[in-house]
Amino acid sequence: MITRQRRLRSSEAIRRLVRETRLSVDELIYPIFVVEGENIKNPIDSMPGIYQYSIDRIDEELDRVVESGVRWILIFGVPAHKDEVGSEAYNEQGITQRAIRHIKEHAPELMVVADVCLCEYTSHGHCGLIKDGIILNDETLPLLAKAAVTLADAGADMIAPSDMMDGRVAAIRAALDESGHTNTPIMSYSTKFASAYYSPFRDAAHSAPQFGDRKTYQMDHHNGREAVRESMLDVDEGADIVMVKPALAFLDVVKEVSWNVDIPLAAYNVSGEYSMVKAAAANGWIDEKRIVMENMIAIKRAGADIIITYHALDVAKWLKDE
Ligand code: PBG
Ligand code: ZN
Repeated sequence: MITRQRRLRSSEAIRRLVRETRLSVDELIYPIFVVEGENIKNPIDSMPGIYQYSIDRIDEELDRVVESGVRWILIFGVPAHKDEVGSEAYNEQGITQRAIRHIKEHAPELMVVADVCLCEYTSHGHCGLIKDGIILNDETLPLLAKAAVTLADAGADMIAPSDMMDGRVAAIRAALDESGHTNTPIMSYSTKFASAYYSPFRDAAHSAPQFGDRKTYQMDHHNGREAVRESMLDVDEGADIVMVKPALAFLDVVKEVSWNVDIPLAAYNVSGEYSMVKAAAANGWIDEKRIVMENMIAIKRAGADIIITYHALDVAKWLKDE
């Protein structure tokens, strides 16, 4: 007797009936870049379709998000002034804090995740304080905690530390609790690899390290078991959601982390992954919609509950067509 696998593939209706993986607009988070200044809508060359907005122009982008049905955005601020200690990261009147206040006032239906890191704010472009060329860990924690509190004070609905300092989730949790933000969740970039896939983002956020690289704090991409350990440590420190980043070259890690932690898991479909798809699509070499949807499902099939992606508004539109 032949086992007839094709029976359940014979029509669109039956394929949809037995589908193992589904994707909903509710699971998407869309990143937005905000810059200091006025009347700015600045295209990022390496990320077609993605712009830096000044606060006075951002409503145009917020309207597009609301219209798409995507509910969650991830905010990255690009300050005009950078210094050694990343002062603007924890300035109550900093670009990111002001942007969040504006968004919560003008688009209250949107939920705002605030990225917490120093690299966009430091003159050296590293994610922590520096002494004698070394990126300091424990000395950086209070600054990250302070940044998190100012962002929550500004109205952020979720705090997402992306710096990869050890102990930062616990430090941020304590500071949020002390300042009355006990109900603000932390989505930790728990498993963030030192990756070449971030370079378009660094154009967008002006956050490239001015010397060296991030390999002493972000994870070595050769390691998978360590990734599980990183996630579990962040769970212990009080993370509400963990993350694997980048997504597509690390789906084995997504899968393994999803098996080993029992809190929601996000995957960050990063800038380089986006740029590669957009470049191939612009050349007519691939079908953008089909490739993007296949990538999204791959990330979910691997075990992610949440996808952070620059494709989010397109995906939302394509989901409506399905
Ligand atoms: C900052 C940060 C980075 C990304 C998110 N937060 C870049 C980096 O670590 O250099 C990358 C996002 C992307 O590539 O889309 N720590
Ligand atoms: Zn950083």
